[in-house]
Amino acid sequence: MVDATVAVLEAAQKAIGGFQLSYESFDWGMPHYDKHGKVAPDNFLELLRPFDAIFLGAVGWPARLPDHITLTPLIKLRQAFDLYACTRPARTYPGVPHPLRSDQPIDLVVVRENSEGEYIDNGGIVSTGTPHEVAVQTAVHTRRGIERILRFSFDLAKTRRKKLTMITKSNAQRYAYVLWDRVLAELAPQYPGIAVDKLHIDAATLELVRRPHTFDVVVGSNLFGDILSDLTGGITGSLGLNPSCNLNPERKFPSLFEPVHGSAPDIAGKGIANPTASILSGAMMLDWLGEKKAATAINKAVEAALAGGASTPDIGGKANTKQITEAVVKHVKA
Ligand code: IPM
Ligand code: MN
Repeated sequence: MVDATVAVLEAAQKAIGGFQLSYESFDWGMPHYDKHGKVAPDNFLELLRPFDAIFLGAVGWPARLPDHITLTPLIKLRQAFDLYACTRPARTYPGVPHPLRSDQPIDLVVVRENSEGEYIDNGGIVSTGTPHEVAVQTAVHTRRGIERILRFSFDLAKTRRKKLTMITKSNAQRYAYVLWDRVLAELAPQYPGIAVDKLHIDAATLELVRRPHTFDVVVGSNLFGDILSDLTGGITGSLGLNPSCNLNPERKFPSLFEPVHGSAPDIAGKGIANPTASILSGAMMLDWLGEKKAATAINKAVEAALAGGASTPDIGGKANTKQITEAVVKHVKA
């Protein structure tokens, strides 16, 4: 994924010009674990801090090491660098089949609160290994955290179709999501041009399948955003298509760019993974770094490649990662 993305970034750099990317790569994850017994060095945050941006392929090999160990640095990174705004666009593409009956194009963005909520490392287990084992895992939702992600989402909606749907579950989770509801109600009048709506997470999963074309910006907590962004990958054809960014909008820390999907161990090493999500995450990175033209050139090249029938098995084709990458590179134009 990373090699494919770098090839496309290089192509965009050549075609558009005016900027120069330099890279440093790290073998964190299983390769690092095999050599050093840990998935990342202890000072990984310090090592990443000076960069302008961080690009992540995919990590995780659950048959060898439990994911909650392998993925700990990723979650730490999101929280330590205050990468609170995770945006995960999902859209349909001409030429790419999707599982829904409707032909209405889908074009939405899931905004995921990425710094707190259900992902806070807070809890414990007692009586481990006994029949009386008890696990407690506490979610933390702060007014500040909710307010800033909602404002970010309202601002994003302003640049799009001006619709915001907030995901809640205040009918059962009587504290956290009641606070989300309250903050939304307070902020909505400050954004008169935005049509605001809210849905409980269970209803949202139904409506995203029934009428996905009606959604524009969909904002939710860390866990809700995680769950919905797999769903939006599924309904638009494949999780292999969906990019994401983990932003610190204040730019106090480097932001992180990665595909929504994971490491897909079932097809690892076969050379058939769809590089689209990763390549589009590269475009989001260029956009964030101010190289808008280059980002647009990549997005257009991906569209052209997909429309021209470049497809990996996840979207019904026979092409491999390398062929798709070449097709995208060929379409990158000023
Ligand atoms: C994601 C992933 C991660 C998450 C996992 C791998 C910890 O599913 O980025 O969506 O839950 O955030
Ligand atoms: Mn996920």
